[in-house]
Amino acid sequence: MDNMQPNIGRLKNDIEKISTFIDRSKLGHTRRGFTKEYKEARVWLRGKMEETGLETSIDAAANIIGKLKGSDKNLKPIIIGSHTDTVENGGMYDGTIGVLGGIEVVRTLKEKGITLRHPLEIVDFTSEEPSEFGLSTIGSKGMIGELSEEMLQRKDSLGRVLSDAIDDLGGNCSELKKRARKKGDAALYLELHNELGPVLDNKKIPLGVVTGIVGIHRYKVLVEGESNHAGTTPMNMRYDALAFTSELILKLQGLCRGKNSDDVVGTVGKLSVEPNASNVIPGKCEFEFEIRALQNEVIDELANKFIQEAEELSRKRNIKIKFDNISKSSSVIIDENIKKVLKENCDKVAKTVHLPSGAGHDANHIYEIAPVGMIFVPSKDGRSHCPEEYTSYEEIELGVEALINSLLAFDKNLD
Ligand code: GLV
Ligand code: MN
Ligand code: MN
Repeated sequence: MDNMQPNIGRLKNDIEKISTFIDRSKLGHTRRGFTKEYKEARVWLRGKMEETGLETSIDAAANIIGKLKGSDKNLKPIIIGSHTDTVENGGMYDGTIGVLGGIEVVRTLKEKGITLRHPLEIVDFTSEEPSEFGLSTIGSKGMIGELSEEMLQRKDSLGRVLSDAIDDLGGNCSELKKRARKKGDAALYLELHNELGPVLDNKKIPLGVVTGIVGIHRYKVLVEGESNHAGTTPMNMRYDALAFTSELILKLQGLCRGKNSDDVVGTVGKLSVEPNASNVIPGKCEFEFEIRALQNEVIDELANKFIQEAEELSRKRNIKIKFDNISKSSSVIIDENIKKVLKENCDKVAKTVHLPSGAGHDANHIYEIAPVGMIFVPSKDGRSHCPEEYTSYEEIELGVEALINSLLAFDKNLD
């Protein structure tokens, strides 16, 4: 096979360009889904796809799709995708290298005069990170018809309704069900991503083939105690919602640690306190927790146990508690053949290991309609979802080259 090295200078320019569409009042790179910066980045991205010779469109879930024709009209498309939204105060690589790396794949193929048998779609999935609507992976859920009416009616803090926000990006929520892709509508889904964890950087190995992706269950919890004077209320006469919430946070940590397995994790990352004043006992807390694991049964078991123990404790403390499940995404075990082809083709480019993904991805949902495969490049010091997130351009280059090699191998052998 020819040398399939991409043009990393060109890709670097694109990564740096999209990184200018950010909210500069925040730290690091902040391009939250549905914001002004996000919309501007999408307009630029669509133009970039067009300039690359892709035929672009926006589907019902507002995903941006750039299509390249294949030589065999009977074949279903291979999809390469990721996302361009970020967490708040996030990094520059999470998601962007997958989408822009996909465009670089197309440019490299064109330069080499290669036409694939399969049609190829480069997809920028709508709002992958947890959004202000309390939902993540909105575009990939939408693409396969998994955005329920209840989800579409969720509101953000400004009172905006999710379905309106999707339509405002160019989607069409009234057509989501009709246009949903079904099993077999794609031949394969591939995603290049930074690891977002420490494994590759610790081992000093530049490429990883993902073996499985964790499932994630998220809940919103409302805790209601009683606000009162922080000076005059004795310790044994308090119904302190924040003190109780703190007990719950530690309980969640204990339950997840108790599983003694690196993939099993639980986090409370979002919390609000009312009235949030130094001399008032907190009367109300609202928080979100998530549990992740490679086995869905483990997540269910831990979530049920946590809820049951929290409810018992709330009765003891005389504090009200209410749980609402806000999302459940299932874990994925990558098919043996996909792993094998990816490993062979990554090995040709650089040293490669197998590893699981502790981060969720759009692949969790696309797996419902097609086999999926993911290639990881290192995250320096295992840092991600923070301004310090870093992957070198040399590592990104290896990742894109491995992606091209793998794509060509799948294109040849998949039907
Ligand atoms: C996606 O970045 C996640 O939260 O795993
Ligand atoms: Mn992320
Ligand atoms: Mn991501």
